[in-house]
Amino acid sequence: MDKAIQDALNQQINAELNSAYIYLAMSAHFAEQSFDGFAHWMRKQADEELVHAMKLFDYVLERGGHVELTAVAGPAKKFGTPLKIFETALAHEKKITAMIHALYDLARKKADYATENALNWFVTEQVEEEDNAGRAVERLGLAGDSTAALLMLDHQFGERSEES
Ligand SMILES: [Fe+2]
Ligand SMILES: [Fe+2]
Repeated sequence: MDKAIQDALNQQINAELNSAYIYLAMSAHFAEQSFDGFAHWMRKQADEELVHAMKLFDYVLERGGHVELTAVAGPAKKFGTPLKIFETALAHEKKITAMIHALYDLARKKADYATENALNWFVTEQVEEEDNAGRAVERLGLAGDSTAALLMLDHQFGERSEES
């Protein structure tokens, strides 16, 4: 497969693994704060990121390409309020969307239709990812400084299933 595309796909595998790291760190932080629902939500999010990484991993191999795994950047060690954390998650998803779109542009430029097709799944997935994080930010914004509202949201987020 085209070298530039292969490099970009490997970079995306790294970005997805980094996403998993970021959400796992957030999950641990929430668990330590006894926000078990937010911790669960972030852990599910991390699981999804690993699935994304493996989808790309399998795709590169399927195309006869070379998978090159590189060092995964460490996540932040300092966290703010739950609202701030979900705002960080939303900003991160927007960054990932931009990366997917840049990859898509590259596949188009190189007339790599198979990669373009494989990336369609990711384009759709990013709409959902931004929507999920965006709605979380909105609801946490509504909760404001109310501990009761925050605990209610924590309970709701704890019900996140595999798909959502
Ligand atoms: Fe992802
Ligand atoms: Fe994501």
